[in-house]
Amino acid sequence: MKKQRVLSGIQPSGQLHLGNYFGMMSRMIQYQGNNDLFCFIANYHALTTIPEKDNLSKNTFEAVCDFLALGLDPEKSTFWIQSDVPQVTELTWLLSNVTPMGLLDRATSYKDKIARGISANLGLFSYPVLMAADILLYDAHIVPVGKDQLQHIEMTRDVAARFHSKMGETFVMPEAKVQENTMLIPGTDGVKMSKSKNNIINIFLDDKKLRKQIMGIQTDSISMEESKSPDACNVFNLYKLVASEGQIKVMRANYEGGNYGYGHAKQALYELIINKFSKERGRYNYFMKNLDEVDKALAVGAKKATAVANEVLRRVRKKLGY
Ligand code: TRP
Repeated sequence: MKKQRVLSGIQPSGQLHLGNYFGMMSRMIQYQGNNDLFCFIANYHALTTIPEKDNLSKNTFEAVCDFLALGLDPEKSTFWIQSDVPQVTELTWLLSNVTPMGLLDRATSYKDKIARGISANLGLFSYPVLMAADILLYDAHIVPVGKDQLQHIEMTRDVAARFHSKMGETFVMPEAKVQENTMLIPGTDGVKMSKSKNNIINIFLDDKKLRKQIMGIQTDSISMEESKSPDACNVFNLYKLVASEGQIKVMRANYEGGNYGYGHAKQALYELIINKFSKERGRYNYFMKNLDEVDKALAVGAKKATAVANEVLRRVRKKLGY
């Protein structure tokens, strides 16, 4: 049986963290092997929101190293940087002409961004069309996304259907796969981990900086001697995500037993992360020092993605009379 093509993109927002890892990244990597995984770094999309102090090429490169370090295998999957296959912008234009303004007007993610003070421009407004092109250009069957992206997949299907009704069957109709039980990954302050809130834990930082992030986790001021409630504690909640059943049990007993301070728990969390991700941390450092290998992997990915993109685009152009 032909493998299903699973496609997703992630924006290089800089400093990927535990939240990204337990969210989209580890999930994508699991598709590798049993499915035909297409995974890319959405650096064209990033242009719509990137603050000036951030550096797009640095963030893109780091995101690539993050994925490679976490086990994304460029031989077993198709892994590329969005802008290395600029055909996607041509398809964006072609799709724009079957995309009603009303459809884009209803995009909640656009409205949210405007409400957050990002200035309205055509790029931001047409973000969903670029995303539709990302998906349709590669004949993707399945698109795993978080709930916040579901509307974009519906818009993609809508745009594909409109194209079909004018020009005839052309694209693979993609389906969203929403992770229902998405874990809420708490940040160092207990609210959802997010770079913009400055509450992240980045597993690829060097030992000293990682330790500093972990020591910065907010706790209450119950004294060391007293018994503590593990479930109300940010340190414990993060520990729980990474630890084994047995380790969690021991940690719970430590909290409840008293004579165990938050400093101890933080140190234990730090050591756990260092151990659990030691292979990945080693690989990350390796790639950061061996840029030629990263470039090679990306060149392979761009070549594979380009071959598919050209074939689909040929189909589309023909329908339109180009
Ligand atoms: N918009 C997605 C996000 O912010 C990223 C993205 C861009 C994407 N193109 C895509 C996701 C295509 C899935 C498929 O998370």
